[in-house]
Amino acid sequence: MSFNEKFNYYRETFEAFAEEYFSKTDEWDLTLTEAVKYSFFAGGKRIRPVLMLSVSDLLGVSFGKVLPFALALECIHTYSLIHDDLPAMDNDDYRRGRLTSHKVFGEAEAILAGDALLNLAFSILADECVKNPFDKTARAMQIIADNAGISGMIKGQSLDISSEKKNIADEKILYEIEENKTAKMIISAVTVPAILAGKDEDIFKSFGLKLGIQFQIVDDILDVTGNKASLGKSTGKDEQSGKLTYVSLFGLDRAKERAEEIRSECKKILKKTDNCDFLKDFVDYLSSRVN
Ligand code: IPE
Ligand code: IPE
Ligand code: MG
Ligand code: MG
Ligand code: MG
Repeated sequence: MSFNEKFNYYRETFEAFAEEYFSKTDEWDLTLTEAVKYSFFAGGKRIRPVLMLSVSDLLGVSFGKVLPFALALECIHTYSLIHDDLPAMDNDDYRRGRLTSHKVFGEAEAILAGDALLNLAFSILADECVKNPFDKTARAMQIIADNAGISGMIKGQSLDISSEKKNIADEKILYEIEENKTAKMIISAVTVPAILAGKDEDIFKSFGLKLGIQFQIVDDILDVTGNKASLGKSTGKDEQSGKLTYVSLFGLDRAKERAEEIRSECKKILKKTDNCDFLKDFVDYLSSRVN
């Protein structure tokens, strides 16, 4: 199978599982259910679930075992986007090619849709712990929780917001933002299968960190060079909001160079693992988004 075929195969496997899961949520309050589904099924790239399924393939973890973890992670990611777009945060009108949640349902319902997705994630994970009361299941849940919370994505979001319009030329803070708001969730995607398989997590953790930093630098570049039609979100927002990004600190050319450097660093880490052609191609796919 080519890289694209494999990517689509993982994405479709995930999509079918998510659709089946959400089809059972009809008892919820109607507007809230609609708001949750509106954002969740808006055509996100699904890179976190795809990465999780590909590492599972690599390590021999069954999809049946890992799909609930992929669903929980994508629920957390989707909630983070709904909240990221709110007027009090990045104040964005478009996401995944549609109007943002608060533009359609109002701010209160958008906040609640995010809250619902976050709680749903932990309900899905808790179910797995009840069904499989083993250390590995609980540890996988713990990693997802830690990487999404006050020592992870939320911390990064807080640093991102608090460094707005301050003209902070501090590479250390920039790195902390990239590492926490973006890379920690990618780390979860690639380390959960290793935990479930009882394999060494370290290589996947360092790969996820590098890949996550590359992903955010690419996102920052695309905010300058990309267009709304292909990205599904507005561009030029980072400069307008005075965000601290790799581009604002070092300029576009250096950001592109850095993304290429990290591409090589990712590949170097992967040399320590067998049968990881999909992950190597994934690193190239990220680079190709800006080249
Ligand atoms: C956007 O994530 C937020 C960042 C971490 C840069 P994605 O680019 O993965 O968004 P979707 O899920 O495809 O919409
Ligand atoms: C957001 O980063 C990362 C999240 C945790 C949601 P950005 O604010 O750069 O993401 P976009 O550009 O709005 O997708
Ligand atoms: Mg943001
Ligand atoms: Mg944003
Ligand atoms: Mg961005």
